Amino acid sequence: MSKKLTKTKSWNSLEKHYKKISNVHLKSMFEEDKKRGKNLVLKDLGIYFDYSKQRITNKTLNLLLGLAKERGVEAKRDAMFSGKKINVTEDRAVLHTALRAPRGSKIIVDGKNVVPGVHRVLKKMTTFSNQIRTGKWKGYTGKSIKNIVNIGIGGSDLGPVMAFEALKFYCDRSLTFRFVSNVDGSDFAEAVEGLDAAETLFIVASKTFTTLETMTNAETAKKWSLSHLKNDKAVAKHFVALSTNKEKVTAFGIDATNMFGFWDWVGGRYSMTASIGLSLMIAIGSKNYHEMLDGFHQMDEHFRTAPLGKNIPVIMGLLGVWNNNFLKAETQAVFPYDKYLHRFPAYLQQLTMESNGKQVTLDGKNVSYETGPIYWGESGTNGQHSFYQLIHQGTKIIPADFIGFKESLNNLPPHQDYLIANMIAQGEALAFGKTEKEVKAEGTDSELAPHKVFNGNRPSSTFFLDKVSPANLGKLVAMYEHSVFVQGAIWDINPFDQMGVELGKKLAQNIIPELQDKNAAIKHDSSTNALIKFYRS
Ligand code: F6P
Repeated sequence: MSKKLTKTKSWNSLEKHYKKISNVHLKSMFEEDKKRGKNLVLKDLGIYFDYSKQRITNKTLNLLLGLAKERGVEAKRDAMFSGKKINVTEDRAVLHTALRAPRGSKIIVDGKNVVPGVHRVLKKMTTFSNQIRTGKWKGYTGKSIKNIVNIGIGGSDLGPVMAFEALKFYCDRSLTFRFVSNVDGSDFAEAVEGLDAAETLFIVASKTFTTLETMTNAETAKKWSLSHLKNDKAVAKHFVALSTNKEKVTAFGIDATNMFGFWDWVGGRYSMTASIGLSLMIAIGSKNYHEMLDGFHQMDEHFRTAPLGKNIPVIMGLLGVWNNNFLKAETQAVFPYDKYLHRFPAYLQQLTMESNGKQVTLDGKNVSYETGPIYWGESGTNGQHSFYQLIHQGTKIIPADFIGFKESLNNLPPHQDYLIANMIAQGEALAFGKTEKEVKAEGTDSELAPHKVFNGNRPSSTFFLDKVSPANLGKLVAMYEHSVFVQGAIWDINPFDQMGVELGKKLAQNIIPELQDKNAAIKHDSSTNALIKFYRS
């Protein structure tokens, strides 16, 4: 049992320290240390990580690093990498890092090296995606596959769709990709709109193969496919499964040879580098896909080996704790200044919030401090014209991560200069603001001046990379994965279960028959009863 977080020496020191610096403005921090913008920067793996606009001093950083030591972040990290069952509530190892471990590595779970199995699945994925991309895989009527529909939800959707959008530039444009996740029938209807069933492959992605949304969509897809192709045998040519559950896959009617497996030591939201990435591999080809895996692995190695003070995910995680628990920021914004990353915030929402949205410690005690913040975001510059007003002049502190790239994949001057100038300017405006004096000096009268004041002192980090590429995407995703781990380790919670999603799912199972049978007795509270009656009427 680890010591209560708020009783640790480092936590107490951080509390005292926070009181001292809570009113120090970023402006004076920069004035005091002329090299701050160079000093509070980490550069590795082609990532320029500027955290100088966070509301910290060198002392804060040292205290946070001390906290990481005291909470045993390094030992916990090593336990994860070596395959220890750190997901204690589910008695599972946590080994998404094994999914990108090079051939020849050794990671032992229950006495068995898991790496050869990972590479067997990767090989099977490579062969299959090559067959689709070259037109060798024929549908039931003999036509090649032109449309790929991924059916999955949560981790079986968000990773594939985010990465597909992010790496669209590298995709085979002769193929059409659609993603169905929602149990809303409109999602399915729109996904198959205009598609020829004879040229359409459904990828049913579900770790458990029991998820209501996915199984409902998969059944509808089977009906749709067979209504056009008129023979049950077509399923073998038009359906493949990505899952850990062979029994359920075969019960659905998909041959085990068309199943791409993975393992219980891969969490759903950590599964985009498991076979769940098949649609992406088909889209970008196995070479690009392997480059992405290499990017992930480079960040895994950085996290595993870099000293805490030079470790990007460690610093990110600690800054998150600082902002969440000391500055009391309730949310964390993520603003990628590249349109290709427009689904990245949505992806991060599951990664971060399903992982660290926890109310009890590993040994089941209620936490007495805030855990995971709310993640949200939008790609730049769109957000600037909607909600940035609140970030700049609202009453809430909203730490922001800006993610930018030097090069655009579509060289259309002056777009990239305008885009990146805006990204840099936002961080500058948030940190330094604009005083009333400055406003008045521009000729604004006293009455209007307060409305134009920017208090500044609003924290942000900036991540700069060369361009959106498969390897860089891998690095970015792994970077956030590991920062989530660091925070979970500090907060003494389990980032690898998701019991909070169960209750609503169970209650829906009770309500389904009550909606379908108008005469079924309903015994909920008065609000729930009235909603059911409204639907029935
Ligand atoms: O309901 C949450 C969840 O269990 C996620 O953790 C997971 O990514 C998603 O559902 C989908 O699960 P599956 O891949 O088993 O269908």
